[in-house]
Amino acid sequence: MMDVQATVTTQPAVLILLGPPGAGKGTQARMLEEDFGLVQLSTGDLLRAAVAAGTEAGLRAQAVMAAGGLVSDEIVLAILQERMAQPDLGRGIILDGFPRTTGQAAALDDLLARSGRQVTAAISLEVDDEAMIGRVAGRYTCAGCGEGYHDSFKLPATAGICDRCGGTEFKRRADDTAETVRERLRAYHAQTAPLISYYARKNILQTVNAMKNIADIRNNIAHIVTKVCP
Ligand code: AP5
Repeated sequence: MMDVQATVTTQPAVLILLGPPGAGKGTQARMLEEDFGLVQLSTGDLLRAAVAAGTEAGLRAQAVMAAGGLVSDEIVLAILQERMAQPDLGRGIILDGFPRTTGQAAALDDLLARSGRQVTAAISLEVDDEAMIGRVAGRYTCAGCGEGYHDSFKLPATAGICDRCGGTEFKRRADDTAETVRERLRAYHAQTAPLISYYARKNILQTVNAMKNIADIRNNIAHIVTKVCP
């Protein structure tokens, strides 16, 4: 892991979780919400909400998501900007699944610069691709609160009952088939992995071994966040 560069700022933190499908971005982002009072902004969740609501952006994104490709920067930036304009962002934000292209990264820098801000840290979750297929295929979430679970690695404490909200309905994502995950992994390596060197050049990259268990990764990320968000 690189030395942590402390960023002294009174501005709300902007943390990025980078990593391929199944790396644990959503799992760890929700834990960061609990541990630090940060707010998770997942472009995947925002896009799925747009699809479910049948908005124009959702209709345009639906087929691309089902095939495992990346939605256009134009659509993603519009929904993210709308979300970032809302007044509930607390101590700061964790971007989960954004940026995913160098165009999105540059647009985020521009957006933050308008209010004198910058990305606090980009945390790259490092994993083996093949293991990600098993992680994603076994995943399910609470239909009520979105808490994530896994058939093997993270079961609710009481079978059939969400640890977080007590809900009893769970769902699986339509794009979590092995074939679609392989396509999402291809998109990650072609379009998103270059962001690792983008943030390394800015000296704000942190790397975490995300092949460990969820609790150990949580501790490692908490260590980083404690240092970069004084
Ligand atoms: P998105 O929703 O962002 O999906 P993704 O990046 O493919 O990531 P996942 O949600 O699949 O994985 P994750 O890293 O969050 O892992 P999780 O914590 O759930 O994007 C979906 C689609 O939307 C994209 O394909 C694209 O079409 C579109 N899109 C979204 N953002 C976009 C953007 N910016 N630009 C363009 N298009 C965009 O963990 C997975 C499972 O593993 C869980 O069951 C979990 O319990 C388990 N698990 C987690 N950590 C561990 C561990 N350490 N050990 C064992 N199991 C673990």
